[in-house]
Amino acid sequence: MAHRPQLCRSILITGCSRGIGLGLVRGLLATSPPPDLVLATCRDPEKAQELQQLQKQYSNIRVLQLDVVSEKSIKAVLKEVEDLVGEKGLNCLINNAGINISASLDEVTTQTMLTLYETNTVAQLMVTKAFLPLLRKAAQGGTGMGCHRAAIVNISSDSASMQLVEVKKLCLQVYPYWIAKAALNMVTRCLAADLKSDGILCISLHPGWIQTDMGGKMAPLKIQDTIPGILSVLASLCDTHNGSFLDWQGETLPW
Ligand SMILES: NC(=O)c1ccc[n+]([C@@H]2O[C@H](COP(=O)([O-])OP(=O)(O)OC[C@H]3O[C@@H](n4cnc5c(N)ncnc54)[C@H](OP(=O)(O)O)[C@@H]3O)[C@@H](O)[C@H]2O)c1
Repeated sequence: MAHRPQLCRSILITGCSRGIGLGLVRGLLATSPPPDLVLATCRDPEKAQELQQLQKQYSNIRVLQLDVVSEKSIKAVLKEVEDLVGEKGLNCLINNAGINISASLDEVTTQTMLTLYETNTVAQLMVTKAFLPLLRKAAQGGTGMGCHRAAIVNISSDSASMQLVEVKKLCLQVYPYWIAKAALNMVTRCLAADLKSDGILCISLHPGWIQTDMGGKMAPLKIQDTIPGILSVLASLCDTHNGSFLDWQGETLPW
């Protein structure tokens, strides 16, 4: 990984047991210089073998339990993170955890809609709300906007784009996912407007269509193809990006 200024002191990522979350953790640990603290959260740390292995290799990673739909779990991890980051606060929160349940118009049910909305939209808002005091602490006295100060990155999807619906007709097989990610983009817009005066930046980021359990084998990209791009985008974030919808190459996507 190329040498560049430290992205941030501390970063917390949700859903790191596998896929993009795990790739981001690996990528961050390999940057030079790396963050002082990479907080890799997952539902079941004992089963997250790759994360456990990384914890043995690197002194700046902590593997913490977080189920993003559990209030109890959010409260417990917040306490742990408060103790770890102290008065410096938390610089960067990546809301990555997500699920997909395929459902066409014929198949979609109230339950699948609500399940996806809970995990892919509501959880991101509640996790962000919980960590806000720590993000505010990190933002205090800082200048400019970005991951060096305080940033919230919601991992969205280009399938959330209302303008691309006609172009990406294949997504019509995934009504719940598509709609929940569009709502997540509204979370981004609201937070960006609300937290601007605190110096906290918020964006939505499409990570690329990637071969993961969710992305499937048909996806054109592998995790290692996109992580350097995502990290470059994170490093480049500044005031003008607040409230934007970017892809892994830094291109602006239409809402
Ligand atoms: N892959 C793509 O092509 C693609 C494209 C656009 C956007 N995205 C977005 O990128 C993010 C990561 O996707 P991925 O491809 O890495 O998916 P993935 O391989 O299916 O991994 C999903 C991750 O989210 C975690 N997760 C699910 N529900 C959770 C919960 N309630 N609490 C905590 N963690 C939870 C999973 O943990 P467990 O191991 O415990 O299940 C897993 O670590 C998602 O938000 C997804 O929508 C992916």
